[in-house]
Amino acid sequence: MRLVLLGAPGAGKGTQAKKLIEKFGIPQISTGDILRKAVADGTPLGKEAKIVMDKGELVPDSIVIGLVKERLAQDDCRKGYILDGFPRNTSQAETLDKVLSDMNASLDVALSVDVDKDDLMKRLTGRRTCRKCQQMYNVYFSPAKNDGICDKCGGELFQRDDDKEATIKNRLDVYEKATAPLIDYYGKKGILKSVKGVGSIDEIFSNICSILG
Ligand code: AP5
Ligand code: MG
Repeated sequence: MRLVLLGAPGAGKGTQAKKLIEKFGIPQISTGDILRKAVADGTPLGKEAKIVMDKGELVPDSIVIGLVKERLAQDDCRKGYILDGFPRNTSQAETLDKVLSDMNASLDVALSVDVDKDDLMKRLTGRRTCRKCQQMYNVYFSPAKNDGICDKCGGELFQRDDDKEATIKNRLDVYEKATAPLIDYYGKKGILKSVKGVGSIDEIFSNICSILG
């Protein structure tokens, strides 16, 4: 299955992708995670990306498309994948269609995870992530048992640099302007499905599984 997860920052794309990996045995390709790794590694690309990411803007298409192309060519993507955070605008979506068509493939589903804007701010300001295993927590909704320590692996929890209120506001604006039009884009292609992203994480996951069949 080749799946695109659409949704605003904080909608729960990463949270649901982690559960989908286990269920379907296909990898998650999160351009945000790939870029954050480049930032943490201090690569030239990471240094360039950090400036843009800290403002909540989109990293240039040429960079992101190159990263995705490289990732899609890897062996573990043969059975399918979950694209999380890519494509992010119409130009990325069109390029993805071309790249896939060159590989004799196409997307099966674009799944939009829908959450009202009011709920997103608390989800993002409260998010904490494990440095070691990337497990996600939320200080308001799903805190770790011991403050700052991952329940699963004991790793240190950190707050993302772009989860500050001013940056979040810009990320939400960028989403509305650049990314939300993709709902229409995939609707016209006949592969759009949507799920309500509010409620318990397990409940949402179970609805996603019913939708994906
Ligand atoms: P990216 O990493 O993709 O961030 P994002 O799109 O802003 O999305 P998030 O990761 O913030 O949200 P999510 O939907 O994954 O939510 P999560 O599951 O974590 O991108 C970051 C930056 O990288 C961009 O701003 C851009 O600069 C750059 N970038 C990335 N891709 C790019 C591209 N293609 N082109 C150009 N630039 C690109 O959940 C959030 C919180 O809510 C967590 O704390 C979680 O525990 C909690 N939560 C989840 N579900 C629930 C629930 N049901 N109830 C209560 N809380 C919940
Ligand atoms: Mg994410």
